[in-house]
Amino acid sequence: MTTPTNQKITATAHTNIALVKYWGKADQSLIIPQTDSLSLTLKAFYTTTSVVFDPRLSSDTITFDGVLASHDDQEKMSRFLDLVRAQADVSLRAAVTTVNHVPVAAGLASSASGYAALAAAASRAAGLNLSRHDLSRLARRGSGSASRSVFGGFAAWHRGTDDATSYAYPIDEQPDWDLGVMAVVLDQTTKKISSRTGMQRSVATSPFYPAWIEANEQDFDAIQVAIKAHDIESLGQITEHNALRMHALTLSAEPGFTYFNGATLAAIELVQQTRQELGGRYYFTIDAGPNVKIIGLRTDLETQLLPRMQAHFGAANVLLTAAGPGVTIQADNPTGK
Ligand code: DP6
Repeated sequence: MTTPTNQKITATAHTNIALVKYWGKADQSLIIPQTDSLSLTLKAFYTTTSVVFDPRLSSDTITFDGVLASHDDQEKMSRFLDLVRAQADVSLRAAVTTVNHVPVAAGLASSASGYAALAAAASRAAGLNLSRHDLSRLARRGSGSASRSVFGGFAAWHRGTDDATSYAYPIDEQPDWDLGVMAVVLDQTTKKISSRTGMQRSVATSPFYPAWIEANEQDFDAIQVAIKAHDIESLGQITEHNALRMHALTLSAEPGFTYFNGATLAAIELVQQTRQELGGRYYFTIDAGPNVKIIGLRTDLETQLLPRMQAHFGAANVLLTAAGPGVTIQADNPTGK
């Protein structure tokens, strides 16, 4: 039995972009993936969440950016808090406040930073002192990609076979080379098909799914060699074909669908064209939405791609960032008063 701290605990976690993607579960309720995956945690986009377990509350109260969460979000997060309560043997309800720090032109808010921050703040507020390994397992139960946001820089998620063996771990938390990531915001509306639904349909109906598993395993091994060697070209090529193959699973599902819109294709083309013309090293990837992210050498991104992207999509919609840190926890009121 653990004693809740009665303190408000605040945690910060950053979003990540998957370079070798997670797209499909082997177990829906425990969130065990079909494959390993690997991502880069980003500096500029993060979520800060505070949690306090309060004897005066009769139900969990959850706010996002000062606004009470929707019924669905409330239920989902309460179920997640139930996992924390069960682990800590605590029955109190919690007040949760979440603030998303996503630069002006949002559209990049993510469940990855959200559940990583919630897992860290809630577990500590409930009196648990989890290792980062166990924190990644807990965050995974909220959203698979959140497991990787526990760590900074390059992080991997080992698929495992059950709750104990499916966890994230660091690959290189502070990459000491000139890496940059550009985010191009093309649409800020919520996606029509959630990643949860989209991946489930892909696993169930795409005839390409078995090939994806095989190709993904090769990408997962090869990208680690590229990261170790600081080989941006190889890292970038793997990133691009991995993303396109993931999106081939949505197109080949029944019924088929896509997260791309016209602007997504225009952005891909502009990356390819600029690269061909100027010889820069930058490579695109796309998650479960239309926005395009580009990983590359920071200098090449800044001097070659940034001006063209800004001219095409508007300066406010193009954001440049770098590798970011893992989850951090701050006790707001260390004296407990
Ligand atoms: C395309 O982690 O959002 O971003 O586990 O169902 O919450 P759930 O899915 P989620 O899926 C992320 C999919 C992706 C690829 C990735 O991050 O690896």
